[in-house]
Amino acid sequence: MTQETPRKVDMEKIVSLCRRRGFIFPSSEIYGGLSSCWDYGPLGVELKRNVKEAWWRVVVQERDDMVGLDASILMHPQTWEASGHIEGFADPLVECKSCHLRWRADEIKDNNCPSCGGELTEPRMFNLMFKTFMGPIEEEADVVYLRPETAQGIFVNFQNVVNTTRKKLPFGIAQIGKAFRNEITTGNFIFRSREFEQMEIEFFVKPGTDKEWFDYWLEERLNWYVKLGLRKENLRLRQHGKDELAHYAKECHDIDYLFPMGWSELEGVANRGDFDLVQHARSSGKSMDYFDEEAKEHFVPYIIEPSAGVDRSTLAFLCDAYDEELAEGETRVILHLHHSLAPIKVAVLPLSRREPLVALAKQIHADLRQCWMVQYDDAQSIGRRYRRQDEIGTPFCTTIDFQSLEDNQVTIRERDSMNQIRVPISELKTTLAAKLSGEELFVLPPGGQIWKKEKWRHYSGKRKNCLSHKSRLNGQRWIHLLGSSSGLWDNVIFPIPRSSKSWWNHTSDPCHQVWM
Ligand code: GAP
Repeated sequence: MTQETPRKVDMEKIVSLCRRRGFIFPSSEIYGGLSSCWDYGPLGVELKRNVKEAWWRVVVQERDDMVGLDASILMHPQTWEASGHIEGFADPLVECKSCHLRWRADEIKDNNCPSCGGELTEPRMFNLMFKTFMGPIEEEADVVYLRPETAQGIFVNFQNVVNTTRKKLPFGIAQIGKAFRNEITTGNFIFRSREFEQMEIEFFVKPGTDKEWFDYWLEERLNWYVKLGLRKENLRLRQHGKDELAHYAKECHDIDYLFPMGWSELEGVANRGDFDLVQHARSSGKSMDYFDEEAKEHFVPYIIEPSAGVDRSTLAFLCDAYDEELAEGETRVILHLHHSLAPIKVAVLPLSRREPLVALAKQIHADLRQCWMVQYDDAQSIGRRYRRQDEIGTPFCTTIDFQSLEDNQVTIRERDSMNQIRVPISELKTTLAAKLSGEELFVLPPGGQIWKKEKWRHYSGKRKNCLSHKSRLNGQRWIHLLGSSSGLWDNVIFPIPRSSKSWWNHTSDPCHQVWM
């Protein structure tokens, strides 16, 4: 699927931006940090929350064949015997006889220590599950594990969900939650850590239809990343060889992303067959059969599992969005984050700290924050403030100047193009809402053709006029407003929702005439 030259950014730049602007900090930093654990700061927590919400929306909210779950992290220890994790969830570990550093044997190129060149021990299998104790007594009988994957919480609840929701096959259960792995080697920032979050789907299907559903989910999941802005050329699919398949998998493909350290796994899509349900049925003595009412038959469903990492997705979105360009003799750092992922959607910037400008700006801030995460910034020059917002990916800045006090209009400045338009304060929220949900603003959609040109058009009860071009691209209609008598809609492009029957909806609000 590679079409253009893949683009890599420097991991140090991403780490530095995340540290400097409060996206991600080392865990317990005042004590020197805790290896491979990370804390998400004020902007990071918003970005990560938006990644999870974007996933939940398409995976659960917008589907009839999916429900959600939030299972506990600590599970009955028998779960991990049945799942094969106690026996098989291990990596081969070698230790350097000189410096005593430990390595994953399968990641060592020659047989010497990558740090000091010393001789290595023979590999031994090291189980990656964190152990702890339930209750006040630390005895072997009280051992519990921190889950290494969220998936098992779904499998053990399969019958609960079927019985309470009356879902029919094929259907899926989705879950977002923390997982823990005592990884031998960690690193590359949040790419591989010992505590991380997963977004997992377990999709239950009739045996025999598993291949078709496997292909379906692979495509769905790949498209999710593309729709949220990852460049296609920075994504690829990689099929697991027989020797690297997990103990439960019949087939597995990784969705790889070109991270700064090279192509690495972003998400895995596996066909787990009936392995998990059969194992839990055997171990618990409880049936994991599904009764197909149409075919009047009992069977154990097969499972297709798209399993994504929240932290890895967040890192990929940051890497792909990062850009530097020269603007007015300075380097402008921009995060071209998809609007839905941007931690802050709008910044409110009064041009001065003098009254009554501040009162108006605060009023606008209070109004906009009802809808979105909004930042108020009045420190330093307006240029510096724009740069600060570009660097954290804020799609729109609203500037309030002295003219605003007279004409009740403010400026909206767009992050990527730096284009500015003036809008009446009364229409600010509606305009921002439309722009935040729009895919392309201020430019023709790629490949879009203008198919109809109109002269000044009478378009509302208020008898205002507007010059517009209409275009269609892949069934999507766009309207390009070249100019309007109010000056409000000069050179702006809006997508017309597919559900809208007409180009224009004659309500009294000019914003609605364009996109409702
Ligand atoms: N239930 C299947 C499963 O856990 P996996 O390939 O081991 O499969 C799925 O993990 C995803 O979880 C990975 O693609 C990755 O995004 C994320 N992940 C796994 N280990 C991780 C770690 N140590 N740090 C951060 N993310 C990790």
